[in-house]
Amino acid sequence: MKKIAVLGYGVVGSGVVELFYRNQKKIEINTGEQLEIGYILDLREFPGDPYADRVVHDIQVILDDPEVGYVAECMGGVNPAFEFVKRCLESGKSVATSNKQLVAEKGDILLETAKQHGVNFFFEASVGGAIPIIRPLHTCLAANDISSVAGILNGTTNFILEKMFCDNMGFADALELAQKLGYAEKDPSADVDGGDACRKICILSSLVFGKHVYPDQVYTKGIRDITLEDVQLAQKFGGAVKLIGAVKRLDDGKILPTVMPMVVMNESLLSHVNGVFNAVMVWGDGIDKTMFYGRGAGKLPTASAVLGDIIDEVKQTGTVLSQSWEPAEEGVDFVAPIDAFSAPRCYRTSPCGKGVFAKIAAEVGVELLGSAENGCMISVCDQKTAEAYKQKLAQEGVTILSRIPVLED
Ligand code: HSE
Repeated sequence: MKKIAVLGYGVVGSGVVELFYRNQKKIEINTGEQLEIGYILDLREFPGDPYADRVVHDIQVILDDPEVGYVAECMGGVNPAFEFVKRCLESGKSVATSNKQLVAEKGDILLETAKQHGVNFFFEASVGGAIPIIRPLHTCLAANDISSVAGILNGTTNFILEKMFCDNMGFADALELAQKLGYAEKDPSADVDGGDACRKICILSSLVFGKHVYPDQVYTKGIRDITLEDVQLAQKFGGAVKLIGAVKRLDDGKILPTVMPMVVMNESLLSHVNGVFNAVMVWGDGIDKTMFYGRGAGKLPTASAVLGDIIDEVKQTGTVLSQSWEPAEEGVDFVAPIDAFSAPRCYRTSPCGKGVFAKIAAEVGVELLGSAENGCMISVCDQKTAEAYKQKLAQEGVTILSRIPVLED
């Protein structure tokens, strides 16, 4: 019999325990091992909880028990999760985590520690909740040269934008509703300002392109400035505004990870991902493109991914080297600056004749993809051209109210 220890008995940790006991028989048949939740580490007591007898307050109890082979880290944050996970790996215990901040900030160190001790550090639950995306990227899609990844990686902001898009609700009202329904974080700035999606795109970028990408290397813009008018203009042009986490490899071999609101045209499946659902689109030379879709947050969806990792860890006989990456090389610019960004753009403006949009498009050498009385959409261009277009509109007396890039499908 092998024991599983759960670190953190909050929403996700309690989901891991609940789902494990709901499906224990099936999990044991799948792994060929008898398994038990041996310990639950938390600062709090849980009187009356059916598993209160497993609660411990000292990580040392778990580290000292040789029967604990697997650890589910569901505490969140970097401290003390980093220290606890590192010590578990050093003690020969494999760890599965739902903690995207930990993986985005310390993943390279923990992957190296796991390798040194012949165990695994898995993190399927850290991106997209229930959606299998980490494992498919380095197993099923391993034969591909993956060139880019883009997705809706934050359920809260997607819920807010859908309310704005479908129900004509203003930003503040939609956020209030998301908080009331329990989707948003207590302090929703990590959702709204893009920090949560940033950590997730760091993890996907590191895995796909093989070197650690840190949150401070990612251009990150949230949805605070998106107005109902922006959403309505995108709709007029046949698209929806979504918070998109994306990374692509550029011609010079560098990568450009970004998090920003983008117009996603209706032809893209991503534009139809609504509510708290997440989706990740992957482009590769063999697959063309493939989309992964599912619940990006919540107790049992996230617990499903954590337990899936534990089940895989039980079956592994050594470290899975394909699910890892190298530390970032000092002095090597692997991540391109935002100046290298290019995309079509959607401009919302003061009232303006269509002729002006077309005239300026011709002057700066872009195609006018669409125009309305209060804005236009122009074809793919670099930052310099997008700026020139904006300047020339200003010279014509047109006020630019917003500029939102358009996702290329
Ligand atoms: N607050 C996050 C979201 C939770 O809304 O997607 C899952 O990471």
